[in-house]
Parts: sequence; C-alpha cells; structure tokens
Amino acid sequence: MKTVMSGMRPTGKLHLGTYWGALKNWVELQKSYRCYFMVADLHMFTTGYEDVSRLQDNVREMVLDWLAAGLDPEKCVIFLQSKVPQHAELATLLGMITPLSWLENNPTWKEQLQELAKTKLSRAKEGGEAAVAVADAAKADESLRTHGFLGYPVLQAADILIYGGELVPVGKDQEAHVELSREIARRFNHLYGATLVEPKPLFTETPKVPGADGRKMSKSYGNAVDILETPESLKTKVMGMYTDPKKLRANDPGHPDAGPDNPPGCTVYALHKLYSSYWQKRGDECRAGSIGCVACKKDLLQSLEGPFGEFRSRRAGFDAKAVERVLEDGSRRAREAAERTMDKVRAAMRLR
Ligand code: TRP
Ligand code: SF4
Repeated sequence: MKTVMSGMRPTGKLHLGTYWGALKNWVELQKSYRCYFMVADLHMFTTGYEDVSRLQDNVREMVLDWLAAGLDPEKCVIFLQSKVPQHAELATLLGMITPLSWLENNPTWKEQLQELAKTKLSRAKEGGEAAVAVADAAKADESLRTHGFLGYPVLQAADILIYGGELVPVGKDQEAHVELSREIARRFNHLYGATLVEPKPLFTETPKVPGADGRKMSKSYGNAVDILETPESLKTKVMGMYTDPKKLRANDPGHPDAGPDNPPGCTVYALHKLYSSYWQKRGDECRAGSIGCVACKKDLLQSLEGPFGEFRSRRAGFDAKAVERVLEDGSRRAREAAERTMDKVRAAMRLR
C-alpha cells in the first residue's frame, strides 16, 4: 500500500473551492492508501508569526471541516505538525545540507514575498500617506525576510520524507515545493547512503469553483461558500449569486457559460454543473430563456440540500473535545511512524 502525505495550513473555515480542489480528493485517497493528513501549524508561522490570536480556533475549525467533508480518523491519520516534534528535528538536519541557492531560487518564495509586500503596501496606502506607506511596505518586506519563511520548503520536505510519503496530493502551486523535497531526499541519500523515499506530486483534475460574485472563490474576497453553512446562510448566498447581468427578465435568453457575453460565467450554473444531474438541460433552458434566475437558484438550493446536509450531520458528530481526541490520537500514530524514520536518519548521520 502506497503512502500518501499532504497538509494544509490552518486558515480556519474552509470553502467549496478547497473542498473540490483538495479535500474531496483526500477523502477518496483514504480509501486505498495509507494516508497522513497534517495541520501545518508550524508553517503558519512562516508568514503569520506576529498574530497568533486565532491559531487555536483556526486549527479546530479546519479539522472540523475535514471531518465534515468525510475524512475518517479510522481510515487516515489526522495530526498536528507541532505535536510531532520529529518534523522540527528532521527539518533542522535537512537544513544543514540544503544549499541556500535552492531556496533563494524557489519561485514560490519570490512570488509570495512580492505578493505579501504588495498587500501590505495597499493596506497601508488605504490608511494614509504614500510616504508612510512605502516605509511600511519596506518594513513589511523586511519582516518577511526570515529564516523560517525562506526555509519553508525544508520543513515541508521533512513533513513528507518523515513518513516516506510517495504521493503528495497538492495543487500546481506546490509543484516546486515537492520537487525540492525530491532533491533534498536525493542529496541526503547521496551524502549518507540512506534511502529516503523521493516523493511525487499527485495532481488531480479538479473543477474551478467560482465565488458568489463570479470571481475566484477566496476568503479575502468575501465571496466564499463555506463547507459548513446553515440552510439560511446558504440560501442568502445562493439567492445573491452572480448570474448573467444581461438576463433581466425570466424569459430573456441567458449566457450561463463564461464567454464574451458573460466573461466570468454564471456562478449558479457552475454549481449546477457540480451538483445537478440535469445541468446540461438547464444550460439549454437558460439560453432559450425558458427559465428565470430566481427559479434556477431555487433549484440549485435543492441540489445543494443533500450534500450540505451531509456536511452538517457529519460535523454534528464532533465537538471541540472530539477534535482534540482526533488530533491527540492521530499525532501519537504519526509520532510512531516519524520516529521510525528518525532512527534511520540519525543512524545514517552517525548521530548514534
Ligand atoms: N505548503 C502547503 C500549502 O501551503 C502546506 C503543506 C505543509 C504541505 N507541509 C506539507 C503540503 C506537506 C503537502 C505536504 O498548501
Ligand atoms: Fe444562471 Fe440559471 Fe440565470 Fe441562467 S437562468 S443566468 S444559469 S441563474
């Protein structure tokens, strides 16, 4: 049985974009692989070390969403990175043999550094004078130039290699990080004659889920449909969703797909594609002007009822205490596996 390893930084409540883009896949994988799914709380400090006030809440909320989505602690190991200190130990050791140039050339690091500095700059600008803003941005940039942030991929390599993870289900944005893990493993094996497994990324075709306003679904845009919505909040979000602005009356012909007539495409239609077996017929009806958006949204709500009800009922089986237990138990199992690898690593490095 192959070993699968992946993780997410605890950002709090998850939305449908993460469900369709990653979680749904994890839920499938747990059926046929030995799976380790990790809450990457240490990685959270690489960019967000100043504000730790929400860390505990974010961990709990994210794990509840994992459980609601169908991850089963009986079928996979769900654990907290900081509760398996072997990750930090292995990261320290791997850091010794990782050339600085590998990290400095990491495209993700360069992009993120720019991205984060830009966000801080625009936030500062909204707040006041440009000169102050530029100074703030420079400071922001400086505050991100940490050992930890640059070393992000070394810690991630430790996460993966410590379980002998062969397959790493991640998005394309993580490709460079998994590649670095392979290179670090190869270098370690070459130096110390060890046999760390070289991991491969596992990319799965996943549908893009647009947000309620037609843009990419993102927490920061405030357009997200969360995994856990009450029937009321789901209704409010669906009834307010972006459709086809040119379809003013029920019998006006509409443009459900993305294209010149409706650049982002109708969000309601995009969700029908994921949740309604009759989506093709619905597209025809929309284009022919034989259905109105209000009716179409009500139909979508019906299609969503089942899946969102399942999320809610699975979620209801766990309270904060139960989440604690899942993480305790998972982290204990993870520690056992991690310690087995560390024994070999320490021996290979003549640390004992
Ligand atoms: N870097 C990953 C992300 O931001 C999270 C992560 C940390 C991870 N450690 C990992 C993913 C190990 C896969 C394997 O999404
Ligand atoms: Fe979108 Fe449905 Fe309105 Fe067509 S009828 S634009 S698919 S909401």
